[in-house]
Amino acid sequence: MTPSILLTIKIPSSVLATLQAAGEVEQHHGEGDMPPEEILARIGGRQALVCTITNRIDKAIIQAGTDLRVIANIAVGHNNIDVAAARERGILVTNTPGVLTEATADLTWALVLGITRRVGEGERLLRRGEWKGWTLQFMLGSEIRGKQLGIVGYGRIGQAVAARGRAFGMRIAYASRAPQNDPEAEHMPLDRLLATSDIVSLHVPLTDETRHLIDQPALARMKRSAYLINTSRGPVVDEKALAWALKTNIISGAGLDVFEQEPKVEPELLTLENVMLLPHLGSGTVETRTAMADLAVRNVVAVLSGQPPLTPV
Ligand code: GLV
Repeated sequence: MTPSILLTIKIPSSVLATLQAAGEVEQHHGEGDMPPEEILARIGGRQALVCTITNRIDKAIIQAGTDLRVIANIAVGHNNIDVAAARERGILVTNTPGVLTEATADLTWALVLGITRRVGEGERLLRRGEWKGWTLQFMLGSEIRGKQLGIVGYGRIGQAVAARGRAFGMRIAYASRAPQNDPEAEHMPLDRLLATSDIVSLHVPLTDETRHLIDQPALARMKRSAYLINTSRGPVVDEKALAWALKTNIISGAGLDVFEQEPKVEPELLTLENVMLLPHLGSGTVETRTAMADLAVRNVVAVLSGQPPLTPV
């Protein structure tokens, strides 16, 4: 029997062709990705689900997936899926680690340089026609060489961000559950990292433990001259508390690629100059997004042909 696959988003045509060779692919034809009610209505009788971070795959969907063998998320983060519920029913869940590491680390650095050198603020001023010309003291930013880059969560992406930090002459500190084998970086408790770092960059998955990890007390612990960067998941930071910290200069600035309730952004943040805001572009290159879709599809192909998945959660 030909397997049936539910695909919730558009993927590159070359990758879609591979998926279509593995089974009959049911797709959403409207705007954007497949709404939850449609996933719920269409999941029954499908052997595979290919989805992404904007699809909340909850217990109800998983239970309705009576024939489901694999849920392939096109993302490394998998907080959008009730993995425990899937496990209970013997459904495999896969993600896309590795292929997006470098793109996400690059974008993290776009935010580090963008906020410390006031790139967004400068461009906004210029476009408003308010630039009066070069002066010695105009719109000065802050240097990073010789300063401490504090990385919270030292997995693949955290380590790739650290490697770039070394190239920029930064000292690397990191907080993670267990120390890693990296003689060029100092493992330290989160509180100390927050209190001593000039840039704090977040690279943890979203879990019950990391939700609002950066709250008001955490922000208050940071140096007044420090910057916070988040390219992980929005809810790791209490966005209202961050807006307060930026407004009252508890910290110097922030660079955010992710938000608590995407695509909504805490309105106060939109009014502040000392924050750089991007629309969740971490892995957003043609090469990386294609590789992510390709890896998700290869996971489906493997499972449907009785092989173990390449990258199980
Ligand atoms: C994107 O946010 C991902 O988790 O891959």
